[in-house]
This record gives sequence, C-alpha cells and structure tokens, in this order.
Amino acid sequence: MKDVIIALDFASAQQTLSFLDLFDVEKPFVKIGMELFYATGAEMVREIKRRGHKIFLDLKLHDIPNTVKKAMSVLKGLDVDMTNLHAGGGIPMMKAAVEGLTREDGTRPMLIAVTQLTSTNQQIMEQDLLIKAPIDEVVMHYALNAASAGLDGVVCSPLEAGKVHETCGAHFVTVTPGVRFESDDKGDQQRVTTPLKARELGSDYIVMGRPITMAADPVAAYRRARKEFLGE
Ligand code: C5P
Repeated sequence: MKDVIIALDFASAQQTLSFLDLFDVEKPFVKIGMELFYATGAEMVREIKRRGHKIFLDLKLHDIPNTVKKAMSVLKGLDVDMTNLHAGGGIPMMKAAVEGLTREDGTRPMLIAVTQLTSTNQQIMEQDLLIKAPIDEVVMHYALNAASAGLDGVVCSPLEAGKVHETCGAHFVTVTPGVRFESDDKGDQQRVTTPLKARELGSDYIVMGRPITMAADPVAAYRRARKEFLGE
C-alpha cells in the first residue's frame, strides 16, 4: 500500500499540533523523528495517534540485540504503524527487534532498516569505517540482511528503489526521502526526485518534510504530492 508520509520535523508539541490542525479532511501518515520525540516524548505519539494519523516512528535503533528487543517491545505499546533501526547493527540485532516488536497475536508495526545514511559517502566508509566495498554494494547487502532477518523494507533513495526491489523482492518495501516538487529549492538534499518520478521508480512510501511543512499552503502541497505520487 503506497502513501505519502509527512516528516514532522518540528521542535515542539505546539508547532506540531498547529500544523496538524491545518488538515481537517485528510489524516496524513506522519513521521516522528528524534528531534520531536526527544522534545515531546511518548505522549506526543499517543496524541497524534488519538487524532487518527498513521505514524512512522523514525528513531533508528542500534544497540546490542537484547537492548533493541526490549526497546522495540516498549515501542510496540505505542501502537505506531512503522518504525526502524540501523541494519549496521547486524542480523541478530534485527531478528531481536522483530521479536520485540511482535504483538501477542503475531501482528506488528512495519519494521524497516536504514542501510547506509545518505550522509555517509565512499570516503567516510573506507577511511572511518574500514569498509572497502563500493557503497551501492554495501547498501544492497544490508538490504538483503534486513530481508533475511524478517524486516519489511529499507529507507533508501527513490533512485535505489528499483534495485532494492530487484535484489530483495517486489514486496520488500522502499521508504524514500529526498523528494521535492519540480519547482522547489533542494535544501540540503543532494539527489532529489519529484513525487511523480518516485512513483515511476517504484517507491512504496515517499517521505516529504519541508516541501509540505514550509509550503505557503501545506494542505495544497500535500494534495499535490498525493496526486503526483498516487495518481489521485
Ligand atoms: O525536509 P525533507 O523533505 O528533506 O525531510 C526529509 C526527512 O527524511 C527528514 O526527516 C530527514 O531526516 C529524513 N531522511 C532523509 N534522508 C535519509 C533518511 C532520512 O532525508 N537518508
């Protein structure tokens, strides 16, 4: 199921809720990242859930398997729809995360992996992390690890979505930031695509922050994104 996810990159509950108040017809799928979560805590997640939004809780866990399992078990109680971790934590950590997140009835929120951060380049990988393989290979290898650990997908660029599907299967989900409208300033994103292009490239979920949150009319921008990406 494809959707447009709005990144709620706000620093306070008040800013976040005033933004969500703009939407009286739609209930967009939203992403809560570290900034908002650390500023406002679990109560913000509960409030947004009460308002009827789907939530991608983007906390990128990375720790020993036992700690990640227990942390995921706590997040399970927040009833979010999607959450994530770093594939760099390894397959045992990812398997533990799946266990921690799974509810008694066997269902669980979608769990996706970050492969290599887009801020990591070949030079950082080789010099700082001593990983010598080409970055594209590392990204696909981590995606395969995530699939084999039972995760549902990865965060990646829309430009990588096709390759991820080829490598890990059509049902392996691609959640893709770095999306801008044709007319937008790119901001600090280097390689960007439009919602329409992301659709053509096979993205399953696009994550858009500033092109919607900073727009003069955020509701119109959100509708435009849905129209281009979902063909609504
Ligand atoms: O404002 P913008 O559309 O650039 O926001 C994109 C969102 O996706 C931000 O929350 C950013 O942290 C997140 N993200 C990203 N690139 C990644 C992973 C996450 O832009 N590789």
